[in-house]
Amino acid sequence: MEEISIKQSKTFIMSNTQKNSWTIFGLSNFSYDILDAIESNGDKVKYFVRNQDVDEEIVKRVPQDIEIIDLADFKPSTDKYFIGFMDYRKDDLLNELLKFNLRFDNIIHKGAYVSHYSTIGFGNFIGANATIAPQVTLGDFNFINRNCSVGHHTVIGNRNKTGPGVTICSLCEIEDNNAFGANCTIIPELKIASEVEIGAGAVLTENISESGLYVGIPAKLVQRKA
Ligand SMILES: CC(C)(COP(=O)(O)OP(=O)(O)OC[C@H]1O[C@@H](n2cnc3c(N)ncnc32)[C@H](O)[C@@H]1OP(=O)(O)O)[C@@H](O)C(=O)NCCC(=O)NCCS
Repeated sequence: MEEISIKQSKTFIMSNTQKNSWTIFGLSNFSYDILDAIESNGDKVKYFVRNQDVDEEIVKRVPQDIEIIDLADFKPSTDKYFIGFMDYRKDDLLNELLKFNLRFDNIIHKGAYVSHYSTIGFGNFIGANATIAPQVTLGDFNFINRNCSVGHHTVIGNRNKTGPGVTICSLCEIEDNNAFGANCTIIPELKIASEVEIGAGAVLTENISESGLYVGIPAKLVQRKA
């Protein structure tokens, strides 16, 4: 038995020597999470690509030992690609990148659990200790933060982001461009429309069909979307 486990661990280490190199478009407060998740898989980040005016405070929080290049200097290579920020400017950037015909990959932290019975699109981030249960469908460019749980048969659209510790229970249907504050809970079988923001710690107990900000337990609409 002992011999087998030694062989397995050697195989594992060898597979980790096949490193991928990543180029991350955009700088954000998530940059270290992205770096950490990539490195957890034995891969490395080659460049962060700066494409717009970025708050200098954010630049200070970006890993300083990794080269930052301007979008104008970007040339496609064999790297894997990821969009490393989550706001409305993502569309502009994607339009600018169309000419390169890039394929965006998922970044899944080594410490996350993603059921092989789930379906994951592209450009998603899944952080450490996140759990994606069987039969989940996750679209594209979602950011599933550390310690989040997505329950079985839940369908999540595109460009949703969660704070750490969010629980989205089973059989939910979540549309696009939503933001879930840290540690909020969505009880089973709920439907959430697009452009919804849920405050930290909220517990959502009813479907949401109207865009806006919802907070509290049970969560209530406190601000309609302008
Ligand atoms: C809900 C939220 C978006 C409101 O932000 P804001 O518009 O700046 O609101 P303010 O901080 O000015 O607070 C406005 C009111 O809402 C209350 N409030 C703020 N956040 C709340 C929350 N999560 N739950 C309940 N009430 C909340 C405030 O106490 C304040 O109440 P008052 O008017 O009675 O004094 C924000 O507080 C929040 O929860 N964001 C989620 C952040 C997060 O988890 N990010 C994840 C990445 S780490």
